[in-house]
Amino acid sequence: LVIQIFFSVPIASWDAISLEISTDSSPFPSNFLFGTASSSYQFEGAFLSDGKGLSNWDVFTHKPGNILDGSNGDIAVDHYHRYLVFPEIVYGKVISTPRNSEPKLISFVRNDMRKQEDLDLMDDIGVNSYRFSISWARILPRGRFGNVNGAGIDHYNNFINALLRKGIQPFVTLTHYDIPQELEERYRAWLSSKVQEDFKYYADICFSFFGDRVKYWATFNEPNVVAIRGYRSGIYPPSHCSSPFGNCSGGDSEKEPFIVAHNMILSHAAAVSIYRTQYQKKQGGRIGIVMSTVWYEPISNSFEDKLAAGRAQSFYMNWFLDPIVLGKYPIEMHEVLQSDLPTFSEHDLELLKSGLDFIGINHYTSFYIKNCIFSVCEPGPGATKTEGFALRTPKKNGVFIGDSTEVEWLFVYPRGMEKTVTYIKERYNNIPMFITENGFGEKDNPISTVENSVHDVKRKDYMNSYLDALAMAMRKGADVRGYFAWSLLDNFEWIDGYTVRFGLHHVDYATLERTPRLSAAWQGVSAMGILKVL
Ligand code: NOJ
Repeated sequence: LVIQIFFSVPIASWDAISLEISTDSSPFPSNFLFGTASSSYQFEGAFLSDGKGLSNWDVFTHKPGNILDGSNGDIAVDHYHRYLVFPEIVYGKVISTPRNSEPKLISFVRNDMRKQEDLDLMDDIGVNSYRFSISWARILPRGRFGNVNGAGIDHYNNFINALLRKGIQPFVTLTHYDIPQELEERYRAWLSSKVQEDFKYYADICFSFFGDRVKYWATFNEPNVVAIRGYRSGIYPPSHCSSPFGNCSGGDSEKEPFIVAHNMILSHAAAVSIYRTQYQKKQGGRIGIVMSTVWYEPISNSFEDKLAAGRAQSFYMNWFLDPIVLGKYPIEMHEVLQSDLPTFSEHDLELLKSGLDFIGINHYTSFYIKNCIFSVCEPGPGATKTEGFALRTPKKNGVFIGDSTEVEWLFVYPRGMEKTVTYIKERYNNIPMFITENGFGEKDNPISTVENSVHDVKRKDYMNSYLDALAMAMRKGADVRGYFAWSLLDNFEWIDGYTVRFGLHHVDYATLERTPRLSAAWQGVSAMGILKVL
């Protein structure tokens, strides 16, 4: 293992923020974190390098039919190799699986690669923070049933050190969807309470190896999405669902999402508890969770639709945040689910008291909500019991809530950002928040050239308007400490493979060459503190 060196990049003072906010200047204080976000499976590639074990996503993407373009994250955008501190290290040939074709060999000449390529890109933008996730299977290839992989520890140590050398704060997620496959095979991972022990063990290792330098930890990325897509619709691993279609089968969509969520909530609590008792005092960092958020706007002013919008939030986001922050599931979940909602034991409730230091908010889109308890609804997303009988629809009287985009779930409604942040502020007593993701996706167009793809005015406008809306929420008192754009680079967009691009940099998937888009330059200007003031 490498010798750890201490770097002294100052972390923002936890208490000093609102004093700097005034109505006539930028609400973004000088210690605001401004960065880009990424995740291990979507970025790293190197899926079998240096002792890494198989993850659930490695297995899932290799099954034909799961990913739109038949691709996978075996190479992804090769982020694992593109931060090299010593560019003369050559690693030879890699196997590429370009879309719709057989695997093929591409050789990279390492010594023509720019030094610390991806770190240089961050540096060019001028960010002061970088959000990334650790691949659990790189640290513990077989979960807690095997050894710690020293090469995996070395990798993240080197990466963290390289970031800090550039003055970039690491903001680290412990698990961003990918988990060691061994946990699935031994006891169906999140469906078993045993997994809480695994997560605690893994978190403990990360805190002990990296916590001297990592000052921002998120336990989970979007656990609500894992529960819903893995165990209700079955479109993510482990592909469980009650009504089989495609590769999905063999689950119970009515019950499993709630069992899985329960185990994730308690895993979060176990990790925070160990951080609080063994690390936080000496390491001085902060720990939270990152939720997928959607703004749910009542479709009418009726009392019923307003209640339904509240239920939609409870069944999506408050589902996790209420137990972690308030120690209990939302009342609407009890009312609708009754005995299908798991209960917390006395011991669990004690553990939940470890809470969190911040709420990470991934926010992109908004929907209208229509009540389906007291009125008859056509079937659709949200209309069932397990989704709180709150039908989600992007249109009211035929008009979209915001501009529609090429990505079917993405509607540009910047006020949704202000409303979501304000909702969280009010419900959870203004706990510090970070916008851990916000960004704009475009469908890959085979006839579009790099030149026109990099002229991404829509992405720039999107981020500009969402930042304005965030600024408004902050002026009204929301304690937001940072903003991360999704994403530094185009990358593997889960079941959409490489067909949807979110990057501030274009990636040519044949050569892996990165080209900055207009949005990267714009983000750079913003990062330098010249944020547009309302
Ligand atoms: C949220 C997820 O955390 C991230 O992995 C994904 O790529 C973006 N949304 C865009 O869909």
